Amino acid sequence: MLCLAGAAPAQAAPAPASDGVRLAATPPMGWNDWAHYQCGVTEATVTANADALVSTGLAAKGYSTVTVDDCWMAPARDAHGDLVADPVKFPHGMAWLGGYLHARGLKFGIYEDAGSATCEGYPGSGSPQGGGPDHFARDAAAYAAWGVDYLKLDGCNLYVAPGRGKEEAYRQAYEAQATALRATGRAIVFSVSAPAYFQHGEWGDSAWFDVLAWSGTVGQLWREGRDITTWDPARPDASRWAGVLNNYGYNRWLGRYASPGHWNDPDFLIAGAGGLTDDESRSQVALWAMQAAPLILSSDVGHLTAAARAALGNPALIAVDQDRLGRQAGVVATDGATDVLARPLAGGDRAVAVLNRGPAARTVTVRLADLGLPGCSATARDLWTGRASATGDALTATVPAHGTAIWRLTPHPGCARTLPTGQLTGNGATCATATGTAVTLHTCTATPDQRWTLNPDHTYRTLGHCLTAPASPDAPAALSPCTGAPAQSWTATPDGTLVNAASGRCLEAPAGATADGTLLDTGACGHFLPQQVWSVPN
Ligand code: GLA
Repeated sequence: MLCLAGAAPAQAAPAPASDGVRLAATPPMGWNDWAHYQCGVTEATVTANADALVSTGLAAKGYSTVTVDDCWMAPARDAHGDLVADPVKFPHGMAWLGGYLHARGLKFGIYEDAGSATCEGYPGSGSPQGGGPDHFARDAAAYAAWGVDYLKLDGCNLYVAPGRGKEEAYRQAYEAQATALRATGRAIVFSVSAPAYFQHGEWGDSAWFDVLAWSGTVGQLWREGRDITTWDPARPDASRWAGVLNNYGYNRWLGRYASPGHWNDPDFLIAGAGGLTDDESRSQVALWAMQAAPLILSSDVGHLTAAARAALGNPALIAVDQDRLGRQAGVVATDGATDVLARPLAGGDRAVAVLNRGPAARTVTVRLADLGLPGCSATARDLWTGRASATGDALTATVPAHGTAIWRLTPHPGCARTLPTGQLTGNGATCATATGTAVTLHTCTATPDQRWTLNPDHTYRTLGHCLTAPASPDAPAALSPCTGAPAQSWTATPDGTLVNAASGRCLEAPAGATADGTLLDTGACGHFLPQQVWSVPN
């Protein structure tokens, strides 16, 4: 599958208006019990948290879909084959719970699984192991009858018939569920977990990229990878920061899949509960907002830390997350110590964030030119303090350990058009790097030789020179004076490839290499080859 994007060199065009836009024009927001309560969830837990969303004002700010995760069911279906709520944990049943939530202006989300059983072993909607009829239509009808507004369909225990591929089996199961949801006539947001069952490492492989691509044709959001660290009451203060960084880490390269109605889901917000400092909680909210991630809180809402409650309810951060342009932040620069992200917003503003991964506060200065605003100054609103100031040609902030600075920039009149600027990140999450007249892969260092601009003429430039495709497939790509030749014109596709206008070939790391010094070349465009996938600035 290779669809060329239109005029914009930076990113894929959004998918056409569809179910996705109708159901989730902006990233879904709400609450889910899993990361805090796991199988300890009960009706009382859900109603208490729902009430707390209302009383804290978070519901009115958008956190309004309340989802019951795994372990809500009785261990077996009833004699008709229908799902049954656990009579002890959910004594009033699921229709009652839906009514409770709706009466408070909330929406009702529920969890099921596309396999034979949920991850915790309760009845799944998919075919039994060994084959046989699935329950997708029956279960969808039950959700509609219960007033369900949102379904999270997990992917444990999915039966793969002999001779069939795993990916085909997942696709068929998730498509069957999407069809069944549509057939109910009820508007039900569909959260797809399929990609999480194909993730290997941060950069990923062909199957993962392929599943990510079709997930957006099936549902409105998808879990791409591993679970965020859950809260363990036996070790209530055990750090969960590494979990936040891990999920942020794999999500940051996937911006090409995000657009209105189609959202990467790096998993729950766990801000405000044990395991994160105040600065770490704030960072998670800021990073998720930059990435247009669903904001689905999974902490005890009645006992959030004050810092997290303020961050979660910060209207300026929510506005960045929910920006109607729906573009996920691109990575401007990473060097292992700090990450700089930039995100275009509707109306021409830009959101910028700086994550400090280090154990001590750090003062960071970022030039506006490096954020896509060359020759420009702007009004920068610090989204933590709300204070606005004029930037000059750079932003400076002292960022606490594990903290994130975040601003909304409004370019001053007379600024030139924004120029997507930042890393060209490829195989193994390494950086395309200017190396004399060649372009190599290298560990990312946030240095100018890794800072690329995507220009209106479809050129990719660094250090004043243009990325140039070789005339023959085996030769390396070059960094040459810009001439306007087709060999210097590249189109970013929704698949993540960069296709050269002269040769029709794709920029790649030959033989799937990731080592420092690997010379880039071009090859016949393949099917979601990880060595041909690029994460481009936004
Ligand atoms: C998987 C999901 C989690 C949660 C559990 C429930 O691990 O990724 O979010 O739903 O299953 O068992």
